[in-house]
Amino acid sequence: MAGRLDGKIIVVTGAASGIGLGTVERLVAEGASVVAADIQDEKGQMLEARFKGSVAYIHCDVTSEADVAAAINLAPQRFGGLDGVFNNAGNGGVMGPVETTDAAAWRTTFDLLLTSCFLGTKHAVPHLAARGGGAIINTASIAGLQAGYGPVAYSTAKAGVIHFTRTVAAELAARKIRVNAICPGLIATSIFGASLGMPRAQADQMAAMVAAQGGSAQPVGRPGLPSDIAEAVVWLMSDAGSFVTGTHFVIDGGITIGPAHAWDPTATSPFAKSLGMTPDQMAQVAGMSAPAADSP
Ligand SMILES: NC(=O)c1ccc[n+]([C@@H]2O[C@H](COP(=O)([O-])OP(=O)(O)OC[C@H]3O[C@@H](n4cnc5c(N)ncnc54)[C@H](O)[C@@H]3O)[C@@H](O)[C@H]2O)c1
Repeated sequence: MAGRLDGKIIVVTGAASGIGLGTVERLVAEGASVVAADIQDEKGQMLEARFKGSVAYIHCDVTSEADVAAAINLAPQRFGGLDGVFNNAGNGGVMGPVETTDAAAWRTTFDLLLTSCFLGTKHAVPHLAARGGGAIINTASIAGLQAGYGPVAYSTAKAGVIHFTRTVAAELAARKIRVNAICPGLIATSIFGASLGMPRAQADQMAAMVAAQGGSAQPVGRPGLPSDIAEAVVWLMSDAGSFVTGTHFVIDGGITIGPAHAWDPTATSPFAKSLGMTPDQMAQVAGMSAPAADSP
């Protein structure tokens, strides 16, 4: 059966783990050749060996322009061209109260999460244009849309990713280069442990824990998985997504629909609490449960 990405050549950053890894697996399954870029060399080399001939691994620190340029340039060198880039590498960035946040750490967070998307775009444009167009996808986050889903620097950088996507999509539309962002919700990956400074092996265990126990965090009632994001990447990279540019896709199991009491009957509404309403009364007011048959 024909793959949805047969013959396409795509660069993925942050490819050794989590969303990047899950996406490389889907891209290859759909017929693409992939340059997998990361700083976890052992995992990257294992990925190349696993998909021999379809994946080329390169050590690439996305905060380095030379590294990003080398990763992008590897696509035409190894596979003969470039059709898409998934700017995805990241971590939780600098944490803690703003008044004690180190300015250099703030800048490093922006280099990793936002400037990396600019660099991946900058170096991809000539190659994509040479093929008559292509697709760029940037990993943003629901933290870039609302407060409460990540540290301040992380969330601000991700908001920047969403607007960078929109504005650069306008610039590149005439060259038939589509640019979109994805805003994942809570996805079971190592990012949580890695951001807390755990060694990778321990962070990987934490990803498994989130996968096992993270279901109740969102309305759909199951944890988010890298494959949920990978499916959207495949669609956007494919010709099926050819009418879509300059926007962002929220893939979060509904977590940003509203506060927990909007979709979880056991959650307490702060509003109900402040009025002294019972959970049942508040649920009725909020439309959580059908009114009794004899109610007006
Ligand atoms: N997991 C979530 O819940 C979630 C939610 C929203 C957004 N995201 C975003 O998804 C992206 C992928 O994260 P993930 O959840 O798969 O985490 P992950 O830790 O499993 O994977 C991130 C990968 O990026 C790599 N990386 C880190 N710094 C790098 C650098 N300087 N250069 C190159 N590679 C580097 C890591 O080695 C790792 O392989 C990130 O941008 C993250 O902010 C994740």
